[in-house]
Amino acid sequence: MIGDTMDTATVDKTTAHNEQAPRSSSATPQTALQQALTSADESPERVALEVRGALPVWLTGMLVRNGPGRWDFDESEVNHWFDGLSMLHSFDFADGGVNYCNRFVRSNAYRAVEETGKLGFSEFASDPCRTRFQRIQSMFSPNVTDNPNVSVHKFGEKFIAMSEIPLAMEFDPNTLETVGVAFENPDMFASAHPHQDVEHGAMINLSCKLGARSSQSFFRLAPNGKPQRIAKFNRRMPTYQHSFGMTDRWLILTEFPLVVDPIDILKTGRPFIENFQYRPTRGTKITAIDRETGKVGGVWEADAGFCFHHVNAYEDGEDLVVDLCRFDDASIVEQLYLKRLREDGSASIGHLHRYRLSPGRKRADEKRLSETPLELPRINYGANNGKAYRFAYGVSSTDEYSLNMLAKIDVETGESLTWSEGDCAVGEPVFVASPEQRSEDDGVLLSVVLDGSSGRSFLLVLDAANLSEIARAEVAHGIPAGFHGSYVKH
Ligand SMILES: [Fe+2]
Repeated sequence: MIGDTMDTATVDKTTAHNEQAPRSSSATPQTALQQALTSADESPERVALEVRGALPVWLTGMLVRNGPGRWDFDESEVNHWFDGLSMLHSFDFADGGVNYCNRFVRSNAYRAVEETGKLGFSEFASDPCRTRFQRIQSMFSPNVTDNPNVSVHKFGEKFIAMSEIPLAMEFDPNTLETVGVAFENPDMFASAHPHQDVEHGAMINLSCKLGARSSQSFFRLAPNGKPQRIAKFNRRMPTYQHSFGMTDRWLILTEFPLVVDPIDILKTGRPFIENFQYRPTRGTKITAIDRETGKVGGVWEADAGFCFHHVNAYEDGEDLVVDLCRFDDASIVEQLYLKRLREDGSASIGHLHRYRLSPGRKRADEKRLSETPLELPRINYGANNGKAYRFAYGVSSTDEYSLNMLAKIDVETGESLTWSEGDCAVGEPVFVASPEQRSEDDGVLLSVVLDGSSGRSFLLVLDAANLSEIARAEVAHGIPAGFHGSYVKH
């Protein structure tokens, strides 16, 4: 099992008091988002956090989060928010309190930086300086990074960190220490957003092979098995894929027109993502694939755009419904370059869009579900993934600041609730269902928030029903802006 409806995990609960973790800072920070882009040092000793408010008595698991923790090295720095070294964070709940620690993943990418002070492997938008010959070598004998800085999952008995890289890295949930490679993907790149395949006790993921014959593939992987390919699509110019949708029966491949000619990766010498081109005249192609047989059930066209994150998908009679956070184009990739983001302190956020795919129709019916921007989306995954649902949660922005608001959108009515507090940079809100589950939104949201006025972070606990604050646990330092986390029951 993976994701946030996971098996019971045993975690030691040792507490230690550590007043602060030193941070390295290279510039005078301004907004909370800018401060959240400051490189940090690890603080692996567990610290009991001061809690304001009362945590729910049933909240006794652990939130593990992943994201970049260091972008600036002794001899160089990376180009993009997505390129920092993976730092894992643990918020361990017990007896009405919460303990916190963090630690860098000991990947080869991390070791290269420690040993040389420079980037050693190819990241999303950063590349070590290499000769043409070395570039060709790395194309055929992948020298891409093993820096797993995007998401965390429980997969069987293993805890794994993932990114769009050839492997998943295992770590110890008690200490956050790196164990080693958990498994290798069948292709060079795979999504960091696999779905749970409950019937098979496995996960399903989307991989991409780049080369003379490029392809996108769905594959199924059981904890102790070998990857089994479900479907493969040859693509001369593959699209960039960050996630996919899944219903009870169908896998949803949504190909927005950010495409790459793989030969350009060889020719240009530019970092990975800079070889992609936005080609809006191609439009968007959405393909439904049977999860069991791998057969294509339908292909639909839609307007151009861009998306990182699917939110949910489900079957509605003969139709398929696909919800995702959509941008008007792919310029968000450029907005998230570190220099720009640190200087400007703002980034745009997409909107929740719904695509209705009807049999016999060539075009998808598309509509915006809410005017409230939404990114880093979460739902009540355990109860509602692949099924009709009502609520999506995510980060949003006020007019004044970027990524400083949490939002809950009712996908039926388009109404939204929000939480914000001055200049506080918010992180992905992870939904944790209450044991009773009296309704879809009966539970809490957990979000790591950096307070721009103090430069320190706190774990915010909101009532998912109305976004009112239940409690917050104060951290003695700022936590760098990360991506995704999972809540694991003890
Ligand atoms: Fe993501």
